[in-house]
Amino acid sequence: MPAEHVAQRIDGVAIAAAIRDEVARDVALLRERGVVPGLTVVLVGDDAASAVYVANKEKSSKAAGMASETIRLPSTTSQAELLALVERLNADESVHGILVQMPLPSQIDADVVIRHIAPEKDVDGFHPVNVGKLLIGHTDGFMPCTPSGVIEMLVRSGVETRGAEAVIVGRSNIVGKPMAAMLVQSRAGGDATVTICHSRSRDLHAHTRRADILIVAAGKAEMIHGDHIKPGATVIDVGMNRVADSTRASGSRLCGDVHFASAERVAGRITPVPGGVGPMTIAMLLRNTVRSAQRVADASGR
Ligand code: GUN
Repeated sequence: MPAEHVAQRIDGVAIAAAIRDEVARDVALLRERGVVPGLTVVLVGDDAASAVYVANKEKSSKAAGMASETIRLPSTTSQAELLALVERLNADESVHGILVQMPLPSQIDADVVIRHIAPEKDVDGFHPVNVGKLLIGHTDGFMPCTPSGVIEMLVRSGVETRGAEAVIVGRSNIVGKPMAAMLVQSRAGGDATVTICHSRSRDLHAHTRRADILIVAAGKAEMIHGDHIKPGATVIDVGMNRVADSTRASGSRLCGDVHFASAERVAGRITPVPGGVGPMTIAMLLRNTVRSAQRVADASGR
């Protein structure tokens, strides 16, 4: 790479806006059929970051023409109370999507809550039934929003996944593992050769330097530098970290898991933070919710 090389940026804000427009058109068609897609978000406790995410979800779903409700519960809520609420939402025909915001307070077991959500309303794609469908390659479940947003970014930016070496850093249930399951499927946005690296991987550099597509979702600020990246690779940064920065009036700044300044000198394409993967997550949540409502409308012959 010449010294002056700078990677092309993949614009998550623009791609997410295009998806939200498509969703708004689908919502309008469903409304003509007498179905208003409904999303209910449940927020337990007062985690500041979660409150911001949840407010954005409500704003975006309303802007797309959906019925949106946020149910806020105190941090002292018991597991039994939350499960009772989930059961009520499972039975409510006006609710097509249920999202319980994570993390939950320590007295509540998130896995138990996730298993309680009806799989056909689990627009997060976290229920074991939906995880299983994703792995098998069945398309009638729901896929987790952040990794499916990454696939949309790759496809819509013309990044070839077929036959590509895709390396994922991070093995979470929300991003890393479903990301691998998506990239390995034999379909558009798949057909990649997939490696998952994690905190116990022996030689991270050796893996990341092989990647045509490098997806970083480790939750560690700026851990991936230019020297981890193969020249010309596509780098997708899923990280969202707040770090101290005395040059800012706020005393902090947002950054990804990729050290952007060194990475953009080596990568062919790269997502910025903010403005990369972040906006895609909500767009995919809206798309999952509208798909849930479409299935209900189709099943009822409307
Ligand atoms: N917390 C952080 N990301 C997510 C997400 O995608 N879904 C839920 N339910 N909680 C989250």
